[in-house]
Amino acid sequence: MANELEKENAAIAAMEYVEDGMTIGLGTGSTAKYFVELLADEVADGLVVRCIETSEQTRRLAESLGVPLIPFEQVERIHLTVDGADEVDEQGQLIKGGGAALLREKIIANASDHMVVIADPSKQVERLGAFPLPVEVTPFGYTITAKIVYDVLVASGIDKPRVSLRRMEGQELLVTDGGNHILDCHCERIPDAEALAARLSNIPGVVEHGLFIGLTRTVIIGNENGATVFE
Ligand code: 5RP
Repeated sequence: MANELEKENAAIAAMEYVEDGMTIGLGTGSTAKYFVELLADEVADGLVVRCIETSEQTRRLAESLGVPLIPFEQVERIHLTVDGADEVDEQGQLIKGGGAALLREKIIANASDHMVVIADPSKQVERLGAFPLPVEVTPFGYTITAKIVYDVLVASGIDKPRVSLRRMEGQELLVTDGGNHILDCHCERIPDAEALAARLSNIPGVVEHGLFIGLTRTVIIGNENGATVFE
């Protein structure tokens, strides 16, 4: 499938940034999975790296492939993080959290010297917002927090937003790796992502949101023949 090839080619291009001795943040999702698999091949061939995972899903994958993981508490420096995105705009601003891993993803991206985003062309947007923005909230008071998030979206110029609680297939509320819930904020179009990010971060009960502003240094968009790198 073209989409899978595009994702894989983005991950192949990201391998150019990997160096022996690095501590590497491993992203979450179907694109980041290709990167973890490629890294595992290099580790099998003698590459020495230590990795830190952004989710339990990625931890299980890395462990199954023999990619060495270290506890976050032992990490003093993360040289490189490679992760996917749900949307990426021309400034490298992102929406992330489609896989519910945004909290650890943002902690690790923020702590990294170099954040590389890998994606297929369907993730490129002129303006963020068509993908529902994930907001991670504490279970305590989540219904009130959802109302306040809605008000903040309206105050941020979003026309008729819709805020829904993410559920599992069995309809029970999704619980993240951090034990929280996810509000999916249907915005269609976010006029000022940076301003909205600041407002959401100010709401008590919001643990983190999926707007990644000023964290990305490199964006790699895969295509059927290779990849385009934006620095
Ligand atoms: C998980 C994420 C993922 O990076 C994002 O959802 C993209 O996933 P995929 O590569 O499967 O499209 O933010 O929380």
